[in-house]
Amino acid sequence: MLLVRSRRELERARSTMSEPVGAVLTMGALHEGHLELVRTARQRVGVDGSVVLTLFVNPLQFGPQEDLDRYPRTFEADLAAAEAEGVDLVFAPDVDEVYPDGPATITVDPGELGTVLEGAARPAHFRGVLTVVAKLLNLVRPALTVFGEKDYQQLVLVRRMCSELDLGVEVVGAPTVREADGMAMSSRNAYLSGPQRASATVLSQALRAGQDAAPQGASAAVAAARDLLEAHASVDVDYLVVTGPELGPAPSRGPGRMLVAARVGSTRLLDNAALSLGGAA
Ligand code: PAJ
Repeated sequence: MLLVRSRRELERARSTMSEPVGAVLTMGALHEGHLELVRTARQRVGVDGSVVLTLFVNPLQFGPQEDLDRYPRTFEADLAAAEAEGVDLVFAPDVDEVYPDGPATITVDPGELGTVLEGAARPAHFRGVLTVVAKLLNLVRPALTVFGEKDYQQLVLVRRMCSELDLGVEVVGAPTVREADGMAMSSRNAYLSGPQRASATVLSQALRAGQDAAPQGASAAVAAARDLLEAHASVDVDYLVVTGPELGPAPSRGPGRMLVAARVGSTRLLDNAALSLGGAA
């Protein structure tokens, strides 16, 4: 496995890499969820293709009051995990390498969808995400990139960006990897104390209750999930919604998505799940 830190080294390594190339973009602090994306990328590109993993904590997507400074950094362990998964190349640039001209002035506008849900809570977040994703994809030039459903709004937005800006990269979605108790894996789970971690399982339980109630429609699904969440005083719900698969309005029947965001202590947690809305005819 090759580790490169500059664009120059990346460019050199990239020119000798066997095609197709699959890219997995992360902020490091790797866990099983990230590694599953690596496995999906490998499956898609095959043994003769190449898998590139990027490790970069992107300042542009963090708000001024957010956790940029305390975001977990586990570089050596990340490299070992990447190597064990058969990653061919790790690109781990520093901030000056990604933004050599200083703070970005030209950025990607995520449009309307960037202003709702996570975008309402974190106003500049998706502009920062899409800008760095476009830059990293342009630097790595993969045929495909794998994104987790864990960050569902991000997945939908990245897919749209690649399509609308004709980036020529296929965006592959991968299911959320969960702990044994159902909790979605996240680098930010490390912030939770024992009791907070125990309360946080209610997010995935609420999604399951929503799925069970979904045959009765979107409002019934939201009500069932809300009942569970409200029983936990330490879980402060920011939003709980049912939408269509592309985050538009929920259909009365057919595939939908339930998304939840909640604060446990000072940690913001996200989860989401597919729903089948409306019962049999
Ligand atoms: P990060 O939070 O490190 O996540 C990197 C990728 O791993 C994303 O595609 C995310 O959806 C996926 N992921 C995280 N937890 C997962 C889980 N439990 N199951 C499946 N996939 C999971 O998302 C980002 O970084 C950044 O915004 C980034 C795209 C790298 C741009 O900076």
